[in-house]
Amino acid sequence: MSNPSLLILAGDGIGPEVMDEVKKIINWYGDKRDLAFDVSEDLVGGCAYDAHGTPLTDETMAKAQEVDAVLLGAVGGPAYDDLDFSVKPERGLLRLRKEMDLFSNLRPAQCFDALADFSSLKKDIVAGLDIMIVRELTSGSYFGEPRGIFDLEDGQRVGINTQRYTTEEIRRVARSAFELARKRNNKLCSMEKANVMESGILWREEVTWVHQNEYPDVELSHMYADAGAMQLVRWPKQFDVIVTDNLFGDLLSDCAAMLTGSLGMLPSASLGVPMANGRPKALYEPVHGSAPDIAGQGKANPIACILSFAMALRYSFNEGTEAERLEQAIEKVLADGARTPDLLGPEGGKPISTAEMGDAILAALDASL
Ligand code: IPM
Ligand code: MG
Repeated sequence: MSNPSLLILAGDGIGPEVMDEVKKIINWYGDKRDLAFDVSEDLVGGCAYDAHGTPLTDETMAKAQEVDAVLLGAVGGPAYDDLDFSVKPERGLLRLRKEMDLFSNLRPAQCFDALADFSSLKKDIVAGLDIMIVRELTSGSYFGEPRGIFDLEDGQRVGINTQRYTTEEIRRVARSAFELARKRNNKLCSMEKANVMESGILWREEVTWVHQNEYPDVELSHMYADAGAMQLVRWPKQFDVIVTDNLFGDLLSDCAAMLTGSLGMLPSASLGVPMANGRPKALYEPVHGSAPDIAGQGKANPIACILSFAMALRYSFNEGTEAERLEQAIEKVLADGARTPDLLGPEGGKPISTAEMGDAILAALDASL
């Protein structure tokens, strides 16, 4: 049997440098755990625009459809701010999500013990935090029609986006969230704005339908998304799994990310329907962006991107034990005091570089054998 295939799209800004550390980890699994991958690489985002005049070529899109998993770094940067909307770096990422039909976006927010002091919230509010946000990723206001900027007869302009969800779009992401809840603490909170939006009313009804008909054993609650944002910073440990739409999920996941102290720590998995080989269509990427201000200086924290590979081991390749090995290696280097600049607390200290962090994680992996 051939090795599982990975397509690496490192992208822009700090994407390539954090992805270099992931490549070291991938090689380690091939060398030390007999878990080799066929790795190919391509362009997405601003770098693809520079080379081809589009943030994602049809060829790259086709490759992404064929591989077992895509690993993405980050897209965007100030050099591309003035580009036409249709060729902005972000369009490349959105096209991948849409055409691969990656409807379920898993964004864990976990607070590592060694970093509990870093949160802007009090330590006892965040220590031990482990929640999972499931964000719908292929519909809602990001993709709904009509959309655009139009001229009005009175000379004004109007900008339009449409919040739109169908029964099946809601049910399928709800199912993925209920499944995750069953494997965790069996609690799901669904967030929408059913008090002001029809799409929110339908969202609540359909999540309730899936609950009653398929997952009555899971404890389900509903919250308005604004109240959910408030509860996330007031008492985040009340949550286990949260399911919400595309736009609310974008906002709530950044909010949850900051609870953990650094955006440089948070991975994500975007999953679609199973392919012929049974593996889900999948793309893994850190939650952080391209951080152009620190790109190319060895200052970036590679942990979010490495943890995204751990999610690939778990969700695409059924290697939960190896995923835990990697997560524990990261926990160990943090407990030992390894800190990229973003992880230095108020008391300061000497930071290590992106590559040194990768090497420390490799050493901890070696020590785990
Ligand atoms: C995210 C990002 C993206 C989004 C951007 C880069 C298009 O903010 O993944 O959360 O809005 O979905
Ligand atoms: Mg976002």
